[in-house]
Amino acid sequence: MTAFFGRLAVGATWTLTLATLLPPAIPLAVRTPYTSAWSSTASDGTLSSQNPIFWFGQGLGWQGIVVVDGNSFEYMGRSINDLPELSYFNTTIPLEVKFDSQFSNFTFLAGPVLVTASFFSPVTPKDICRSSIPLSYLTTTVQSSDGKPHHIQFYSDVNAQWIGLGSEYDIIKELHTGPASNGTGSGNVTDSPMSWILRPRYPQLFAEANQIPRWGNFSYTTSPKGAEGFSFQSGSATSVRLGFVNNRVLNNDAGSVTRGFGNQEPVYAFAHDMGTVLETSVRYTIGSIQSPNVRYLHKGGLSNLAPWWERCYGGMHDMIRFHYYDFDTVAQLGNQFESQLRTDVNTFFQGGEPPVYRNDQYGQQYEFDPSSAYGYLQPGNATGIAVPFVSEAESYYAIVALSARQVMGAYVFAVPPDATGDAVEPLMFQKEISSNGNINTVDVLYPASPFFLYANPALLKYIFQPLYELQEGGFYPNTYSTHDIGTHFPLATGHVEGADEYMPVENSGNSILMSYAYYKFTGDTAWLTSHYELLKQFAQYLIDYSLVPSAQLSTDDFAGELANQTNLAIKGIVGLQAMSAIARVAGEADDAALFATKATDYYDQWERYAIDPSGRHTLLAYQWRSSWGLLYNVYFDKLLNMGLVRPALYDMQSSWYAAVSQTFGVPLDNRHHYTKSDWEIWTAATCSRTTRRLFVNAVAYWLNETATNLPFGDLYEVVGAGDYPLSIDHFSARPVVGGHFALLALGRTGQLAGATGGDTTGSLFPRNGTEHLPVPEARVTDPPCFDNAILHF
Ligand SMILES: *[C@@H]1O[C@H](CO)[C@@H](O)[C@H](O)[C@H]1NC(C)=O
Ligand SMILES: *[C@@H]1O[C@H](CO)[C@@H](O)[C@H](O)[C@H]1NC(C)=O
Ligand SMILES: *[C@@H]1O[C@H](CO)[C@@H](O)[C@H](O)[C@H]1NC(C)=O
Ligand SMILES: *[C@@H]1O[C@H](CO)[C@@H](O)[C@H](O)[C@H]1NC(C)=O
Ligand SMILES: *[C@@H]1O[C@H](CO)[C@@H](O)[C@H](O)[C@H]1NC(C)=O
Ligand SMILES: *[C@@H]1O[C@H](CO)[C@@H](O)[C@H](O)[C@H]1NC(C)=O
Ligand SMILES: *[C@@H]1O[C@H](CO)[C@@H](O)[C@H](O)[C@H]1NC(C)=O
Ligand SMILES: *[C@@H]1O[C@H](CO)[C@@H](O)[C@H](O)[C@H]1NC(C)=O
Ligand SMILES: *[C@@H]1O[C@H](CO)[C@@H](O)[C@H](O)[C@H]1NC(C)=O
Repeated sequence: MTAFFGRLAVGATWTLTLATLLPPAIPLAVRTPYTSAWSSTASDGTLSSQNPIFWFGQGLGWQGIVVVDGNSFEYMGRSINDLPELSYFNTTIPLEVKFDSQFSNFTFLAGPVLVTASFFSPVTPKDICRSSIPLSYLTTTVQSSDGKPHHIQFYSDVNAQWIGLGSEYDIIKELHTGPASNGTGSGNVTDSPMSWILRPRYPQLFAEANQIPRWGNFSYTTSPKGAEGFSFQSGSATSVRLGFVNNRVLNNDAGSVTRGFGNQEPVYAFAHDMGTVLETSVRYTIGSIQSPNVRYLHKGGLSNLAPWWERCYGGMHDMIRFHYYDFDTVAQLGNQFESQLRTDVNTFFQGGEPPVYRNDQYGQQYEFDPSSAYGYLQPGNATGIAVPFVSEAESYYAIVALSARQVMGAYVFAVPPDATGDAVEPLMFQKEISSNGNINTVDVLYPASPFFLYANPALLKYIFQPLYELQEGGFYPNTYSTHDIGTHFPLATGHVEGADEYMPVENSGNSILMSYAYYKFTGDTAWLTSHYELLKQFAQYLIDYSLVPSAQLSTDDFAGELANQTNLAIKGIVGLQAMSAIARVAGEADDAALFATKATDYYDQWERYAIDPSGRHTLLAYQWRSSWGLLYNVYFDKLLNMGLVRPALYDMQSSWYAAVSQTFGVPLDNRHHYTKSDWEIWTAATCSRTTRRLFVNAVAYWLNETATNLPFGDLYEVVGAGDYPLSIDHFSARPVVGGHFALLALGRTGQLAGATGGDTTGSLFPRNGTEHLPVPEARVTDPPCFDNAILHF
């Protein structure tokens, strides 16, 4: 989808492509928690006005210059500010940015040519080998815009910020040339890939500083293929760049300086001379590579795990080389995912634009009283704020397209410790990016899970495998589900003392629901039943503690502990219903009956505790009259078609959300002005079409307008400037954006959004071939849900 530059200074003679939205940061190279480069759009910034940033916010050295008939133009970074003013060195004029689920393309004007920097981080969830590669592509293309050929040269460099080591540190750098393969380029150059490799001289295995790994290798690779001349150089930034702009060739000196970035920093540069042409391009690959990549506690002890790509491609240089030459194939795979995504979004919203709520009513007046922790609407004021009309499908597409790289970019794939034979399956490890760095956090996987259910449910199994091995192996003393498998990525060393973050009901419910969902989307009976005893143990915990949960955290732990959380209780109860279905699959009829009875019985009691006496909404906590919050945990009842939640409850909630919606969506609950984008879309999936549209469009509107300045942060204020909430760490680049696929996961089960009814006999999105479709269940009637209906219980 095309986005923006409405708000950037542009060349007067150029008309910009119509905008969908301009997010706070655009993904450049986003593959793993460590290969995570973005272009911030804060303060009207773009690729050519500043350096790219790491997800944590610090800069990364990555520069790009195009020379046109001897005049240099900078399209990436801002090294021009550090050099003397030269008549033959200028900036480029930004024209357009486009992104889809795979690519971010920036187009610039540079004298008589157009320059496009095309960043490609493949999202190919069904291809595990390619998904495990920690590298990303940049292809820079130049096209004559005056019909005449021009002499074109490319320059690009990187610095040691990618390995996070400042000038007080000693680093090792190498220039590695791979073997030539299929013939040569023109002139004296071959098609051998050439890589700058940087790494710490004194690595610390599995350690991070400022979120950047202290071990492994960073690589920046290109090939002279297709160039008339090729050169390289390492040396101090100013002299390398000034030398290039003056001479338009590098001196092929790999340099001797081994200090990190900062004071008199060295840079590592490549230059291509393409001759006089109408159109030409150059390709680079970039990324941070770790082997081993995870430390893992299992039955056999502690092991350092090898990255999965080693199984597929061999050593680091073989993998780099494979990736470099794989562009065409992986672009085709990526485009398959992309075109399926577009088709599915269009299919899902095929009913056309739902009715718009009164004036679109973003921005009702909302008062919040911190002394009583109550929020309420200002009576009689529903003025709203005029927002641009953007179709729901277009808004939703932009949200999921932006989320796809981010969710995959929070995971690494590893070879299990006891891998023998061909039947080995990978283990997947998630970094809880930006919130606390835990590894395989269950309540972070839970919001992200709709992406996996939509894109490839097998990945859920690969993430659960370490969680279940740890608990089944006796490494966790509590009977409820663990919160994660280690305090900080990539140390999956468990919590043998059981002192993980205390979210017992939350994560016991999450584990059962996701395990059952995995089964429903794959039909993998063997896996489900092999974990029956553990799941049953979690279910027993839910029987004991979910109906009236004691003071504890839910996944929204930044909001603090609270007793009797309505939304937490319903998760446990829906979890019991799922456990009854799991017992049926396992052939345990008695258990199935017991869990079903408990679920139904608890549900009836829950409704009596949960609904406000006004009959207009559920409560945030049983004991707080008039309180309210997003009841997003009913999504799994809907998704898995379990029919526990009464249809009228969906209707009631759907009407209530619309009544309390603010400029950037519905607050998470009545205590604060903030919300979570993942829960907004989960909740949207349980609502009428009109309310659904309100949620979807509010998230898109927020992305476009927010004052936040880091990669897609899922926690933000729904009022004011849509900024980060005060006194909570800024959430950024978290995998929970996988939750934005909640509508598409519903589509996979054959249902339209929550309350509009649907047909579970087949997926909305037919696939060719033998792909397994969600296991059909006895049909449960969908709630009718009338807009604006306020029901009284
Ligand atoms: C740089 O580009 C701007 C905008 O096109 C132009 O006005 C200016 O003359 C150029 N400067 C140089 C030194 O070429
Ligand atoms: C970006 O550019 C590539 C060519 O490098 C093209 O294949 C892709 O479709 C473009 N994507 C968008 C969103 O413009
Ligand atoms: C070499 O050429 C063959 C056949 O054209 C092709 O399949 C292969 O990908 C090429 N290898 C490289 C490294 O370009
Ligand atoms: C290619 O030839 C040019 C001109 O002779 C020379 O300057 C350059 O260093 C050569 N490049 C390589 C990679 O050998
Ligand atoms: C980095 O590269 C060096 C040299 O190839 C290698 O010995 C080392 O294992 C690599 N380290 C990692 C973590 O990939
Ligand atoms: C009603 O809300 C609008 C939009 O937020 C605001 O501009 C206006 O001042 C409010 N009116 C009153 C009477 O408070
Ligand atoms: C939680 O709800 C139960 C049932 O309504 C009630 O008995 C109990 O007092 C509540 N707990 C708190 C801390 O208010
Ligand atoms: C984003 O802002 C641009 C420019 O103001 C506008 O054209 C576009 O419709 C907006 N998109 C959304 C989703 O609000
Ligand atoms: C499935 O097959 C149909 C008919 O052959 C074709 O039009 C469609 O593009 C295919 N879809 C996918 C996702 O391959």
